[in-house]
Amino acid sequence: MKIWEGRFDKPTAVNADSFNDSLPFDKKLWKEDIIASVAHATMLGKCGIIAEDEADKICAGLDSIYSDIENGKIEIVGAEDIHSFVENELVARIGDTGKKLHTARSRNDQVATDFRLYVRGSLEKLTDALIGLVNSLADNADKGLKYVMPGYTHLRKAQPMCAGHFWNAYAEMFLRDLDRVSATKERMNFSPLGSGALAGTSYPIDRDMTAKALGFIGPCENSLDGVSDRDYVCEYLFNGSMVMTHLSRLCEDIILYSTEEFGYFEISDAYSTGSSIMPQKKNPDICELMRGKTGRVYGHLLAMLTTLKAIPLAYDKDLQEDKETLFDAETQVINCVKIMAELLQNISLKTDKMETAAESEFCCATDVADYLAKKGMPFRTAHAVTGKIVRWCIENKRTLQDMTAEEYKSFDELFDKDICEVVKGKNCADARTSYGGASSASVKENLKSIKKRLKHYKA
Ligand code: ARG
Repeated sequence: MKIWEGRFDKPTAVNADSFNDSLPFDKKLWKEDIIASVAHATMLGKCGIIAEDEADKICAGLDSIYSDIENGKIEIVGAEDIHSFVENELVARIGDTGKKLHTARSRNDQVATDFRLYVRGSLEKLTDALIGLVNSLADNADKGLKYVMPGYTHLRKAQPMCAGHFWNAYAEMFLRDLDRVSATKERMNFSPLGSGALAGTSYPIDRDMTAKALGFIGPCENSLDGVSDRDYVCEYLFNGSMVMTHLSRLCEDIILYSTEEFGYFEISDAYSTGSSIMPQKKNPDICELMRGKTGRVYGHLLAMLTTLKAIPLAYDKDLQEDKETLFDAETQVINCVKIMAELLQNISLKTDKMETAAESEFCCATDVADYLAKKGMPFRTAHAVTGKIVRWCIENKRTLQDMTAEEYKSFDELFDKDICEVVKGKNCADARTSYGGASSASVKENLKSIKKRLKHYKA
């Protein structure tokens, strides 16, 4: 039975019906729909809009539907949407009193409330997953404190750094994501319930009461905006997109660094896959798939923004499109974050390769120039002298590490014996003690701060 069929003298065409129906996907909102209906019915009773015993009967009926769905006793089928399903089921169970539930309410404020509750819950799940991920990164940073690896610019070796620096950089990104998620939750946590179809209601409802019962900060202040606002869906999708961007960059780094060519990381077999034809292969499919899913999540953001961009106030059916896009993005993002947190616990550092690489390809050249500059030579001149040294090394198949102090001296009198120590990879990294720099001491401080900031977030 359609909840609105009174005005119609023909049934909806079969195809129009299935095109219009949202039950196949909005059944996911059953918990939120029932919880919000209980809050609404309780308020109707307390405000004397319906009798208190009628409110009690409605709430008991809703509770029984909740437990029957939870225990798999009833299947959610046979209605236009989750709101009609619950209402039909209620009337079937408690009779005409059930028909009073929808007093002073519209499906427009109902769906807006259900979806806010759902998205708020999902932001909490995402927060939990992100906390797990930052913890995994912090563990890896901790393990990396003792080792050096080359840092890159333009994907060319640039300067040696403490290996923990790499993991901390990603921890910073995901901490920002946590911050965004928490700000979104704060901003969206207002109740549209009581906005009615668009203009509020003539019944003496208490919007503060329902808002409080549902854990909202308060009611939304404008009923037109209340039923039509989906900014929080866009924010969710943007936050998810940003998380995916960070994951995708991390995936790219892991894929590169675990190649034979780089060889700094080894992903555990448990998080790798093989080839059907090449027996030797161990592929980073998990990371590649995650990188690939990034496009899909971006797509959801763009879809939602486009859906919203030209719909007139207030509720339009276009808004029904908010659900599938968010549900899929939620699944992808939270799964990816969780899997990455696990994968990171199963990645090992090939420290010998990392340390050798940190000294190769003249990674320590900046430190040679800095050595001269610290002794009074203008940096630009020191840069040029070091450039000549690098050129000489290339022509003579030598390295900055196997040059003798005398050879250095032949380029400039300012060089002393200690230059041979200065150009060791670990020393170069550890010299960068500036705040936020790549020395193990600075990285340790960074890690301490990451762990402290992480404590601010709880789901
Ligand atoms: N399934 C609808 C949605 O998700 C519920 C609200 C229907 N309201 C209406 N006026 N048709 O948006």
